[in-house]
Amino acid sequence: MNKTAVIKKTAAAHLENFGTAPESMAWAPGRIEVLGNHTDYNAGTVLSAAIDLGHGFCISRSARPGIHLFAADANQRASFDLTDASKVTGIGSGNYVKGVFYFIQEHLGRKIDGLDCTSLGVVPLGSGLSSSAALEVSAAYAVLKILNVTLDKKEIARLCQKAEHQFAGSKCGLLDQFSSIFGIGHGLIHSDFRTLEVSSVVLPEDIEFLVVNPHVKHSLAASPYNERRERCEQAAAQLAKLLPHPVTALRDVSPAEFAANRGRIDAGAARRAAHVVGEIDRVERGMESIRQGDLKAFGQLLFESHQSSIENFENSCPELDVVVAAARAAGAPGARLSGGGFGGCAIVMVRKEQAAAVRKQIDAFCRAKDITPEFIAVTPSAGAETA
Ligand code: GLA
Repeated sequence: MNKTAVIKKTAAAHLENFGTAPESMAWAPGRIEVLGNHTDYNAGTVLSAAIDLGHGFCISRSARPGIHLFAADANQRASFDLTDASKVTGIGSGNYVKGVFYFIQEHLGRKIDGLDCTSLGVVPLGSGLSSSAALEVSAAYAVLKILNVTLDKKEIARLCQKAEHQFAGSKCGLLDQFSSIFGIGHGLIHSDFRTLEVSSVVLPEDIEFLVVNPHVKHSLAASPYNERRERCEQAAAQLAKLLPHPVTALRDVSPAEFAANRGRIDAGAARRAAHVVGEIDRVERGMESIRQGDLKAFGQLLFESHQSSIENFENSCPELDVVVAAARAAGAPGARLSGGGFGGCAIVMVRKEQAAAVRKQIDAFCRAKDITPEFIAVTPSAGAETA
């Protein structure tokens, strides 16, 4: 279901559930992370794309106090108010919405109350395509519209991230929210999470990405995500004591400096850092390959990234490894896990003319290993908007 259809369906569900047409509607997409795994919270860089799957969010004002949320996709309802930061129970999406509204209210210093809200998402949950960021950003855009307030897009991303940290328990970086907000049609975005600069990277016409879901469910809050983040910070702190220049994040450590000093820091933290330092370097080499039109070299970096996930960051899983091995055997130029890992999806970069054949071969390869993959066609798309 595309953007227009999702917004229409969200509005119809809102009308049916609350008996009122929405006054404010928004759409925000999920994302694929193409290169730069776990680099965002290390002040690094990432290549990513918003996709054509996302979340619709509708709001109308109500005379009833409180926030009344209808999650149309799950057919769940919740009511809460924003007087405190207590968790919403019994509804999966409640905390993301409450968190976003709560921090927007705090940021604006203006009470938010008396709203009927409907959310509807078509990003498969737990697939690693950032359904939660799509929900957060769509909720943020819709509520800002009804309040008639304009906020800086980076500030919106930060408030959504804060909601995810404090209401959902995942200490994520800003990648998912940035991708959902700044995505462009037919291209990737390059985000620098130190300077918060975003630039666009046009892709050759004949390239597309297949998302392959081997159906390993994951949740970032329950995964070792937060532990990995702590290990990266530990490595940065230890390297800061060894290097002659300031190190506030792994971004400040070059591959050569890391190689020379990795033996002098905690061995476990060093393996996690090896992934991050390598990834930041791969993003920059990847940019160069795209500039030179060398897709083979770019694809190779995706395979290297996945290998580093297996060996250094240990955030892959056997099902994803099978998909990536299958993609390689099928002649795809590149493939890797995308997003937090510990489950979720792999992305496979293919040339358009080989897409159908590659897909068929991956399917057969996976089935021979007892994995039934789902293929999700995604197109790099524009970021969030109000309708
Ligand atoms: C998840 C997080 C992001 C990022 C990726 C890994 O998607 O939400 O902030 O850290 O994992 O790159």
